[in-house]
Amino acid sequence: ELAERLGRSIVLVGLMGSGKSCVGRRLAARLKVAFIDSDAEFEAAAGCTISDYFARFGEPSFRDGERKVIARLMEGEPKVLATGGGAFVDPETRARIKDEAISVWIRADLDLLVKRTSGRDHRPLLKTGDPREILARLMEARYPLYAEADIVVDTTDEPPEVTVAKIIDQL
Ligand code: S3P
Repeated sequence: ELAERLGRSIVLVGLMGSGKSCVGRRLAARLKVAFIDSDAEFEAAAGCTISDYFARFGEPSFRDGERKVIARLMEGEPKVLATGGGAFVDPETRARIKDEAISVWIRADLDLLVKRTSGRDHRPLLKTGDPREILARLMEARYPLYAEADIVVDTTDEPPEVTVAKIIDQL
């Protein structure tokens, strides 16, 4: 099996709307390993949604919690882990992922990210202004960091299976 040969987890990074969770779930099924989503795990640990958490405790506290959750999730058997868009921006988390896992950046253009995130309101960062402007700013700030991932895969408005195949090609 490919997953056994790799011997490490695969961690998906990229902006909100790039398809990390959707692609990750299918990639894990193809590799026959567990799939875990760090946002969902954060919410389970916190006992509330990420939106509520931001409102109550603020972003810095979320980032501390996210760092701890990801450190815990990286332990154990190799798996596919989809991270929240800010996770790989944190220096400690980025170093841990680069050390211990195979990182995959799912890169998408602004139009696609805007389209994929519109009409959904579980992302607190996009509620503070115009989503396109916010995403454009995040692209500028984060793309140089995401570029440190081991594998970069470009995604368009394609079925998730197509993105999965592109990732598997590069493993
Ligand atoms: C965030 C992305 C979200 C979530 C939180 C912050 C970010 O995850 O972790 O709202 O900083 O980009 P997704 O990328 O899964 O939407």
